[in-house]
Amino acid sequence: MATNSSSLSVSLLLSLLLILLAILSSGSLTISGHAFSIQEATVAELQLAFKQNRLTSRQLVEFYLGEIRRLNPVLRGVIEVNPDALHLADKADQERKAKAPSSLLGLHGIPVLVKDNIATKDKMNTTAGSFALLGSIVPRNAFVVTKLIKAGAIILGKASLSEWVNFRGDAPSGWCARSGQGKNPYVLSADPCGSSSGSAISVAANMAAVTLGTETDGSILCPSNYNSVVGIKPTVGLTSRDGVIPLTPKQDTVGPMCRTVADAVYVLDAIVGFDRNDKATGEASKYIPHGGYKQFLKPYGLKRKRLGIVRNPFVVKGSEVTKVFEHHIQTIRQQGAVVADNLKLANIDDILNSSASGELVAMLAEFKLSLNAYLKGLVASPVRSLADVIDFNNKFSKLEKTKEYGQFLFEAAQATEGIGSDVKEALSNLAKLSRNGLEKLMRENKLDAVVTPGYEFAVVLAIGGYPGISVPAGYDSKGVPFGICFGGLRGTEPKLIEIAYGFEQATKIRKPPSFKP
Ligand SMILES: *[C@@H]1O[C@H](CO)[C@@H](O)[C@H](O)[C@H]1NC(C)=O
Ligand SMILES: *[C@@H]1O[C@H](CO)[C@@H](O)[C@H](O)[C@H]1NC(C)=O
Repeated sequence: MATNSSSLSVSLLLSLLLILLAILSSGSLTISGHAFSIQEATVAELQLAFKQNRLTSRQLVEFYLGEIRRLNPVLRGVIEVNPDALHLADKADQERKAKAPSSLLGLHGIPVLVKDNIATKDKMNTTAGSFALLGSIVPRNAFVVTKLIKAGAIILGKASLSEWVNFRGDAPSGWCARSGQGKNPYVLSADPCGSSSGSAISVAANMAAVTLGTETDGSILCPSNYNSVVGIKPTVGLTSRDGVIPLTPKQDTVGPMCRTVADAVYVLDAIVGFDRNDKATGEASKYIPHGGYKQFLKPYGLKRKRLGIVRNPFVVKGSEVTKVFEHHIQTIRQQGAVVADNLKLANIDDILNSSASGELVAMLAEFKLSLNAYLKGLVASPVRSLADVIDFNNKFSKLEKTKEYGQFLFEAAQATEGIGSDVKEALSNLAKLSRNGLEKLMRENKLDAVVTPGYEFAVVLAIGGYPGISVPAGYDSKGVPFGICFGGLRGTEPKLIEIAYGFEQATKIRKPPSFKP
């Protein structure tokens, strides 16, 4: 309700402004009938509005700052706004006046929110939601932030998250000490999921044009699923992790979370690339297609694709989500795809059990090593090691009235001693599970992608560094959103984008949030 009235008043304001401008400039301004609505506008629509002088970056940033002021006290998707955002918007507006439209890059003047574990070398803090890192000084922008800025984007602020990407203790999804409990904008009492909760919440509620999240195991796909947005979890190494507070280099990846597949693809195009500070990009950058990913936004992208369904345990018999999923499978077939049903993924019980697969053992050891390296690399920081962070949490939770969610994962990680034989064995088991699991399934059935309801397939994708895309697929009887997940082998983003875009164009499920209690 509140949302509609605000968009109304903004569009009213905009139309008054346009009329005023039109009068002042005595007809030199082209007005195409009615005012431009920022709510739910796509990147392409925003760029067109810029080009047609119906919108400035300043107006856009002012709109989002207003929505953050209005909605964020409840939603808590934003942890900090960039004090320089309006200044950057003015700069973008000046550039647009001075330069030929064709010379402006894909995200020119577009405000983007980045998850708070992604370093920005500006007036903002980079803290993974924790007070332990408040006041720390990063050596440079994260590589993906540098890429966003090069593409013309305005860094609007930092998105909240499940503290320490949900690898600390028992805290609920979407909670961090610095901004409290993030809320699902569709049903406030529902799970927003995490750990990229703030990115999903904020873009779903139109507090930003586009956002970045990160995923180690489900952290983009799950909140996208629950907040009715599109999340692309890229192949590990396609996007650099330099300047991202790490969990494990084996699985961490940075990806877009947006309202549409096309928006997510524009952001993906901006952030992929080789970075000498992240070895994994050397291997994965060979996957980046000449001309980028935009060319795969084909309305009939499902045509002649082969999709596999692994029912056990991802399709729950008789559930609300499953009913809608079956309907979507019909649509996918009608769109010209071939669906191979009832496929089996080898050792699925082990894959889903992080103790049995070795995922947890590997994560704990890699987390300690990589977090310590990140903290040592900071220019200044109140904490310099995982041990310091544990000490901080012990003192802090006694001093403050915040809930004590424990830090058993931190303590377990601290107890590890590098990459020993147990970790090597775990990593080799994970590789074997992927080889005999998804790799074999895809090859034997000649699949382009596996399609599953919800986000739970994320773990299969996580342990192999595989990509996945979550697209809005429906709302349950309480109004809580759910998605559909397309996953595939490393480097198959082009096919996944064709499939996801084809599905989105055929279904158009996403609607703005309703803020039910
Ligand atoms: C960053 O943290 C400092 C406290 O160390 C705070 O004063 C400052 O306002 C924060 N920056 C922003 C943009 O919120
Ligand atoms: C997960 O695996 C561990 C170790 O193999 C086992 O002890 C545990 O029972 C398993 N958990 C479930 C839920 O199957």
